[in-house]
Amino acid sequence: MTKPSSSTGYVLETRGVSVAYAGVAALSDVDLVLAPAEILGLIGANGAGKTTFVNVISGFTRVTSGSVLLDGEDVTRATPDKRVRKGITRTFQAGRLFTKMTVRENIEVAALGAGLRSGAARAKAQELIALSGLASVADIRADVLPYGFERKAALARSLATSPKVLAVDEPAAGLNESESQELVAFLAEMRDATGVAVIIIEHDVGLVMRLCDRVHVLAEGRTICVGAPAEVQQSPEVIQAYLGTRSVTVDA
Ligand SMILES: Nc1ncnc2c1ncn2[C@@H]1O[C@H](COP(=O)(O)OP(=O)(O)OP(=O)(O)O)[C@@H](O)[C@H]1O
Ligand SMILES: [Mg+2]
Repeated sequence: MTKPSSSTGYVLETRGVSVAYAGVAALSDVDLVLAPAEILGLIGANGAGKTTFVNVISGFTRVTSGSVLLDGEDVTRATPDKRVRKGITRTFQAGRLFTKMTVRENIEVAALGAGLRSGAARAKAQELIALSGLASVADIRADVLPYGFERKAALARSLATSPKVLAVDEPAAGLNESESQELVAFLAEMRDATGVAVIIIEHDVGLVMRLCDRVHVLAEGRTICVGAPAEVQQSPEVIQAYLGTRSVTVDA
């Protein structure tokens, strides 16, 4: 077990986070918690505020009010760079590798960017390549990487900074069913191997319900439900606001 290191036991916590764009509320009073090594699904309809939330915790968007705590430390005013060093890493919607670098170089560069010395960065890249099953493509340039490896390589790169919290925005977008399944399995393996806590934004509700320990649901910038996947799926509010009439049968 990863030892909880903040007084509350959460690796990440937001308190009353609100963001307004030109007076329009994108997030309103969001309290969210993330336990060490937990995988939390952040779901909601288009425009619900999911990406804004990830922008807030990673330091790309300033809160209008509220705070962000990492291991109990207030990082609300810290720059994105500083937060990466403290342990919050995020991927971008449709995040891409540096195409002219190999997979290994992509990971090394990220490790160097986070302040590792060259030897340590090289070792980190090697460790992640082995861990993520990317050895066969490690020295291939990203622009000729066989299809299906790119997302994995991008996730491996995001772990180069040894984050405590990894936020991934729609990592399976554009993948087919079996590729999505594979990516989900990969994320779970990475969590198991590194103890990283993951916040995943994903529209495929079935995928979220299978992967996540807990689910946090936003609607129009507000939290409408938080709980285990089975609870969330049965919440009348969630069904009304998000799941709609879509049937959400989830195989175990
Ligand atoms: N930079 C911005 N300037 C103004 N409004 C913005 C900005 N970014 C987001 N918004 C607005 O904030 C709200 C939340 O948007 P956000 O992108 O966080 O939603 P989302 O849940 O990620 O949606 P999607 O599922 O479509 O990715 C939306 O109403 C959006 O139009
Ligand atoms: Mg989004």
